[in-house]
Amino acid sequence: MSDEMKPVENAHSGKNICPICYIAVVNTLGEHMRSAHGEREFRRALLEAKEKGMPDPEIGSRFGITFKQLERIITETYGINISTLEKPRKIKSWAPKDFGEETTTVWSFKQRGNWATHDGRYRGNWSPYIPRNVILKYSKPGDVVLDYFAGGGTTAVEAKLLGRRCIARDINPACVGLTSENLDFGLPETFLRELSTCEPEVSVGDARDLSDLSDNSIDLICAHPPYAGIINYSSKVEGDLSKLGIEEFLEEMREVARESYRVLKPGRQCAILIGDTRQRRHVVPIGFRTINVFLEAGFKLKELVIKRQHNCKSTGFWYANSRKYNFLLLAHEYLPIFEKPESPIPLAVREEVADYGLLFPTLEKPVIKRKIDEFETTTVWILPEKDFERRLNKNVIDRYSSGKGYSTISFVSHPKNEIDITSGEGQKGRKLLLIKSPFLADNRSFSTSNIEFHLQKIKEFVNGELPTINEDGFIVIQTQDVRIGEYVEPLAKRVVDMLTPDNLLLKEIIVVTQQNQNTKLQTTREHLEINHQYLLVYEKVDSRRLRK
Ligand SMILES: C[S@@+](CC[C@H](N)C(=O)[O-])C[C@H]1O[C@@H](n2cnc3c(N)ncnc32)[C@H](O)[C@@H]1O
Repeated sequence: MSDEMKPVENAHSGKNICPICYIAVVNTLGEHMRSAHGEREFRRALLEAKEKGMPDPEIGSRFGITFKQLERIITETYGINISTLEKPRKIKSWAPKDFGEETTTVWSFKQRGNWATHDGRYRGNWSPYIPRNVILKYSKPGDVVLDYFAGGGTTAVEAKLLGRRCIARDINPACVGLTSENLDFGLPETFLRELSTCEPEVSVGDARDLSDLSDNSIDLICAHPPYAGIINYSSKVEGDLSKLGIEEFLEEMREVARESYRVLKPGRQCAILIGDTRQRRHVVPIGFRTINVFLEAGFKLKELVIKRQHNCKSTGFWYANSRKYNFLLLAHEYLPIFEKPESPIPLAVREEVADYGLLFPTLEKPVIKRKIDEFETTTVWILPEKDFERRLNKNVIDRYSSGKGYSTISFVSHPKNEIDITSGEGQKGRKLLLIKSPFLADNRSFSTSNIEFHLQKIKEFVNGELPTINEDGFIVIQTQDVRIGEYVEPLAKRVVDMLTPDNLLLKEIIVVTQQNQNTKLQTTREHLEINHQYLLVYEKVDSRRLRK
């Protein structure tokens, strides 16, 4: 949760002078203005303060409103959820400094990017580094890029700067206005020598209905949906998907996926940024569920990128509460890059058969001493390469078992006929079972069948061990996406799809990566290097209590 999302303090002890009747107000100015001068005057004064650049927390305490209420008043007044009412600034640069394309699956941009007309005015807009990377990797000058959730026009601005044609749409007419404003610049001479100008086509439109676009006509889709009520983008716009609950949102995204598949040219890509949310201290995997919606529409998964979020607090207040209430701050989103296959993949080439032997669990002796120096508090853990497994184990054990009653199990691969099974029957009454699959790190020779076999084994194992875990205990599964031929097999998503006993709740999806792995070497490699793993944290609960 960012600072901004915290309710603004509304207790105001000092005296405020009312700008209308000039009396000194003891309670909040908001209370006085609303009762003495009415809602309209109250809003007018508040928006005037905002326009003059008064910071949100100060507005909150002076007028006695929360951040959410302020956001709602702005959205209702201007038809769009913007963070500042000040005029946009002058363009200072045309491109990011020292830009190198991303080469691995973890994308992290410390600064959101403020070249050209990019700024953070529109709430929830994405960092321009994302469409820049996607456009450069998956299109060439003159190609047509479609963003049907255009918002403030970040993708459209990038497409224009990079000489791509762009179709930018949004359901909210105020967004079309903002996008047009952000596109109101001429390219400098140096750009025009290399690229022809392509002015994006900007219009109001519904991502679920692209019927004016022909089949197989788009080279790249690059879009960022308003996932499930997390930010309200508009107040009264019909068809705005940000107003929907999770299930309805996913249903509507089916239409978006179907239309995307139809309009995209075969062999081309569709990149969608999507994140998870939390309900009752458990994670709701909207990201993985949205991936399913696109796969069911016929897409293949070319890459699964993790986008880190940097607005998360991991010190002080959050640090203490993360430990006390045992939850991690959501600090990542997913950027699945789908591909519409050239033609249905024939069965004969669907699988690269690799003899991977058999996979069996071996029960390991817990060797972790308690006491931890650095306690992770967000859903992204960046651990030193040298000490990676030890730090990972320590963090899991300390957080989910308090060092008591845990065991770790590793699935290892054995060459055929050399089967050495150590049974995984653990002791009763464990607080934590940590299941690891180190063989996945050898990310080269997988086939669909040994992945299915591995998943099946995990399922059998979890079901078998579940009765030995305490109620309120945890099962943590360490896993990794693998590449099979041209496409990614998203193993973490597959495990989440597969493990559905009603007494297991998905508590966290943690992304783990190694420090210093994000070296941005310019590369001609076709695929991104998979450099992240996952920890899927399940909590065992009493299913009867859950149903109550
Ligand atoms: C996350 S924002 C996109 C932000 C954008 N990437 C940017 O950088 O400004 C999602 C956008 O989807 C729009 N939207 C919601 N429902 C829509 C629909 N059915 N069709 C098209 N746009 C929609 C919202 O108005 C919002 O502007």
